[in-house]
This record gives sequence, C-alpha cells and structure tokens, in this order.
Amino acid sequence: MSVLRHCAFSSYALHCVFPASLLAVSKISDIIPRLIFTQKPAYHRLDDLIGKNNKTGLYFMASPLEKIKKKIHHSSEQYAHEVRDTLSQLPHISAKFEYLTANRQFRVDQKKLEFMSLLEKVQSSKPKIILEIGGRRGGSALMFSLAAGGASKLVSMDIKTSDRKVKNLKILCGDHDVDFWEADSHAEETIQRLSDHLNGEKIDFMFIDGDHSYEGAKQDFIRFAPFMSEGGLIGLHDIQLDFTTRYKVNTNCWTGGVPEFWKEIVSVGFDIEELISDPYQDGYGIGTVRWSTLSSAKKLEQLTAITPEK
Ligand SMILES: C[S@@+](CC[C@H](N)C(=O)[O-])C[C@H]1O[C@@H](n2cnc3c(N)ncnc32)[C@H](O)[C@@H]1O
Repeated sequence: MSVLRHCAFSSYALHCVFPASLLAVSKISDIIPRLIFTQKPAYHRLDDLIGKNNKTGLYFMASPLEKIKKKIHHSSEQYAHEVRDTLSQLPHISAKFEYLTANRQFRVDQKKLEFMSLLEKVQSSKPKIILEIGGRRGGSALMFSLAAGGASKLVSMDIKTSDRKVKNLKILCGDHDVDFWEADSHAEETIQRLSDHLNGEKIDFMFIDGDHSYEGAKQDFIRFAPFMSEGGLIGLHDIQLDFTTRYKVNTNCWTGGVPEFWKEIVSVGFDIEELISDPYQDGYGIGTVRWSTLSSAKKLEQLTAITPEK
C-alpha cells in the first residue's frame, strides 16, 4: 500500500502545484485512497476533488475538509451513475457480469461459468422475492435482479455496510427493487425483520454467501429455508474445498466449513445440483437445492439433527 500511495502522490505532484501547507488541511489520507481506487487518472480526480482555477491553471483548495468530503461523496455517487450507464449499454447479462467482475467498487466475487449457470436458473424460474445473505459490494445482488427480469423484490443483507455504500448501490440498481440491509443473518431481530418484510409472502430464490463457518452456513440454511416457496431455489456458495484444506497449500481462497455442510445437504437427499467450473479449482463452486415444502421439511429436520464428528 505504501508503494501505491507513493505512486499516487508522485503522479499528483507531477500534474499540479499544491502548497505543502494544504496537505495538513486537506487530510491527504482521505483523498489518496480515492485516487488509487478510481479508474480515472489521478489528476482528473484531483480536478473533481479540489477544483482548478481556470485562469491560472493552478489547483487550489476550494474550501476546508468538509467540502472536500462532500466532493468525495459526490464523486462516488457520480461514479455509481457512470457504472449504471455503462451497464445499460452492455447488451447481454454475461457482458454485464464481466464488467462488474472487473469493477473494484461493485465487484461480483464469483466464477463466471458457475454464476452464469445459476443466473440461467434464476432467469427461468422468474423469482418474485429474492434474498441474498452476504451481499458485500452489491454486484451479485444486481446480477440476480437483472436475471429475474426487473420485476422482483430483492433484499441483500450484509453484516457490514454503510449509508454511503447503500446510497451508491441504490444508484447502481436504478429502477430495480433492491434493498440493502446492514444485518447479521444470525440475529433474532433479522429473522423478525425479514418476516415482517415478507408479510406472509415466500422467498423464491435465496443465495447464501455470508458467514462461511460450518455453523454459520448451516444456521443460515436452517433458519431461512422455512421462508422458501414451493419449488423455490436455494444457492449456496463455496461448496468446493479450498487448497489449504485439500492440499495444505495456502492461498487467499477460504471456503471455511461450507464444503462440509454441503456434504450433509447431499447426504440427506435434497434435490440438488452442483455448479463447479473445474473440480481441481481452489474453492468456489455453487450448490443448488430445489425446495419442496413437503419433502424438504423432513430433510431439514434430519439436517438439523446431524452433528459433525470432531
Ligand atoms: C464472500 S462475501 C459475499 C460476496 C458476494 N455475494 C459476491 O458474490 O460478490 C461474504 C459477505 O458475507 C458477509 N457476512 C459474514 N457474516 C455475515 C452474517 N452473519 N450476516 C450477514 N452477512 C455476513 C461479509 O461481511 C461479507 O461481505
């Protein structure tokens, strides 16, 4: 990070005159991350952030910190608009996925083939109500809403988000009915909130990609599955073992206890499918369960009764 900071600062220093005294006022640590994490050249971002005197060509401080912060917020909202407009120009959902996967702010963290197969299932089942557990940057929620054809209502929850992030995600999602909740899926109040929100309606598609511990993933499945509609689809992400667990080779990929939990789902005989691009890959992989109110309820009881061997 220090090298990146250095690069950003150098490019900035090359393209503008910026009195040293302003560094303290502008709280440069607030600006630099935006310079690094946006796709425009640094000096263009500075124009946005600080302002430029058209006559002299010199950069100046428009006003103190608060104004800069406002500008930063404004520019991230503007960026959300830009991404939304770009997405609308891309003709196919696969192209939209490619674009979002490469986008730092709204990145979708999925393998393309697996996710496309899942989206096809979503598309063909035309879900009206969608729940995502573990939304992170929000790109996956938008992809689900796009696949559902825009007529769906979607809630994407994450244990950690912010008002600003939610605002930008709402801009990104445009007309789509997508809500981003800051919520712990394991909290009692979240179950109550969802129940109130659904008001008797059922979930047609649920994607579980939140807490990846064995207990966490299992709890999400057991507690939210009873909200599923007849024939509804559940997707569980990261059913494939990561390299650390499989080969004792440490990588950044961590699928936690999800593969072990997935084995239990398979063992009780749910109607499942596995979407795995490559059996040798490091983690990822999506498992799907087709929900049947009558037979799945019994299997859910069996699943709950399984205790893992220590
Ligand atoms: C792997 S990321 C989700 C990626 C996203 N679905 C995608 O496809 O790009 C997992 C997310 O789950 C969230 N999370 C972890 N535990 C959670 C919990 N108990 N409730 C809600 N979200 C949780 C984390 O904050 C993190 O953002």
